[in-house]
Amino acid sequence: MRRIRRDAFSRRLVRENHLRADDLIYPVFVLDGSNREEKVPSMPGVVRQSIDLLLRQAEQCLQLGIPAIALFPVIDPSLKSLTAGEAFNPDGLVPRAVQQLKQRFPELGIITDVALDPYTSHGQDGLIDEKGYVLNDETVSVLERQALTHAQAGADIVAPSDMMDGRVASIRTILDRHRCIHTRILAYSAKYASSFYGPFRDAVGSAATLGAGNKYTYQMDPANSNEALWEAGLDIQEGADMIMVKPGLPYLDIVRRIKDEYGVPTFVYQVSGEYAMLKAAAMNGWLDEEACVTEALLSCKRAGADAILTYFALDVAAWLQKHG
Ligand code: PBG
Repeated sequence: MRRIRRDAFSRRLVRENHLRADDLIYPVFVLDGSNREEKVPSMPGVVRQSIDLLLRQAEQCLQLGIPAIALFPVIDPSLKSLTAGEAFNPDGLVPRAVQQLKQRFPELGIITDVALDPYTSHGQDGLIDEKGYVLNDETVSVLERQALTHAQAGADIVAPSDMMDGRVASIRTILDRHRCIHTRILAYSAKYASSFYGPFRDAVGSAATLGAGNKYTYQMDPANSNEALWEAGLDIQEGADMIMVKPGLPYLDIVRRIKDEYGVPTFVYQVSGEYAMLKAAAMNGWLDEEACVTEALLSCKRAGADAILTYFALDVAAWLQKHG
């Protein structure tokens, strides 16, 4: 074995997996206002920014060869409610961001998150009953309208991350009915009730609204694996174009099983907590950032991921460019 490993040329010849800019999706946090930028303390290097500043980052993505960005809104608390009506306001923050991005950079793919947590006063991904239980079908009827609003604003991909049952079929139906025939659905099929989402909830402000609440009645139990195949199978049948596994590194066995079972485009989300861990260690000089981030993302590829959502996307694309 060591004859093959001896020299860089032969290591390169037998390398089975590669990380490329084409594999990356950059998740971004968008705020209302203009010329506004706020740091996210638990995610050093990540900011929340207004649309005008976001346009500059979008341009950077294009220059670095990153195919798409995923938008996550920071909604003003005054717009949050029990009914989450702001989620399908055609003049809301997300539709405005999508319109401006598509107008300036039509070739950059825009992915929007379909879930109600930025819009509910309690931070849950759906509408709740008097006991706080997240109602399935009532939520799906709001998600449909949210997805349609995003698609009509020009979103290329809508990505339901809510984990309600039947939402992919409902979204596909409403999109078809309104002739949004090109809008792709990226289904968060295997989305686990993970503690690695903590920094994200700080970033979008849902940590405060959620309080001591949890998402165990709809997100998946980290102990389960067969259930992820069942979920992915349903979402594919319902009309998903792509499947997502989330978080990334702790769940790469799930990526591999889904890929082997269905062979569909399978994405993985290296989530906020994974970013925070790597960043904190790198900032302390305990880990080599470029080497460890690259290794973690390459592991996603090896597990079968077609694309990776990562807050490191700009850095990784720049490293790849540097090494030619
Ligand atoms: C909510 C949503 C979450 C993330 C993306 N969309 C958090 C949650 O479910 O509470 C997490 C992403 C990350 O941690 O980077 N619909």
